[in-house]
Amino acid sequence: MEYIDKIKSLFESDLKSKISKIDLKNKYLGRKGLISEAFKEIKNIPLDQKSKFGDELNILKSYLEKILLEKENFEQDGMKMDALAPINLTYLNQTSGHLSAVTQTIIKIQEILSKIGFATIIGLEKENESYNFDLLNIPKNHPARDVWDTIWIQDKDNNKNLLRTHTSPSQIRYLEKNKPPIRIIAPGKVYRYEATDSTHETCFHQIEGLVIDKKTSIATFKGVMEYLFTNLFGREMQIRLRPSYFPFTEPSFEIDILFKDKWLEICGAGMVHRQVLKNVGIEDQSHQGFAFGIGVERLVMLISGLDDIRYIHSGDLRFLYQLGKKS
Ligand code: DAH
Repeated sequence: MEYIDKIKSLFESDLKSKISKIDLKNKYLGRKGLISEAFKEIKNIPLDQKSKFGDELNILKSYLEKILLEKENFEQDGMKMDALAPINLTYLNQTSGHLSAVTQTIIKIQEILSKIGFATIIGLEKENESYNFDLLNIPKNHPARDVWDTIWIQDKDNNKNLLRTHTSPSQIRYLEKNKPPIRIIAPGKVYRYEATDSTHETCFHQIEGLVIDKKTSIATFKGVMEYLFTNLFGREMQIRLRPSYFPFTEPSFEIDILFKDKWLEICGAGMVHRQVLKNVGIEDQSHQGFAFGIGVERLVMLISGLDDIRYIHSGDLRFLYQLGKKS
């Protein structure tokens, strides 16, 4: 480590001297410069200190590169750069950030499905009752409404606005403006009015999927799901369809994937209900299709073995870095 400190102080004093930028660059960062020489020393360092030495040297190298670049910019602007703030290696040793595991998973799914023609659309987080419920065949007083604990918004216009409880209203919004064939996903946040615990959060993410075409069948759907999960996990994945109930699909099912010898529920799905198609003006019987809703946090938890959803939004960097790197 002393060796690294020596290079550092030498560089600082050289910076203040008249040595040209090119010479400075060659002396430290050139092929035979002090940094490359120092890297060659790694073989002589005791085993338990090798990686620390390497890390510190890399930090010093990026620091020198940064300063030399700054010096270049400075001098191009006709200024002289001879006084520098002292080097603070602790500050430089920050790990760079990355997207959250949830965003990474959404992007991966987007990439996989885009290869088979799915476009991504973004729905609205503030919805109204009719899109979140009625047009999806969940009329007032229907017991299915109880499944979605809703956060209502009190607006002046009394329009019964709410924070969407699921991404399914994006289906309606898209269907209203577009004609089949349709192949879209709509990722985003959804909100539920409920007490949080290890498996429930008031805000989480879903990816809605919708396909409407002439011959789209349950077999097509199963194929798409196998393709998606096989590519997501990077190995052949088995899936199964289990009968379920959603007012906006008929028949409805849950998709389970076989993960570490257990069948795990991963998303709700079904063939889009005729009534939903009628609600958006598709009256003839020549088109049909499927829809699905994947819970993203649930998927992240499964893949990473996480047992408490609340960690995901906790903002605890120790946790977020581990999870982000894994996924
Ligand atoms: N919206 C459902 C929920 O939040 C999930 C879902 C089920 C979406 C079936 C779908 C579907 O598109 O076909 O529980």
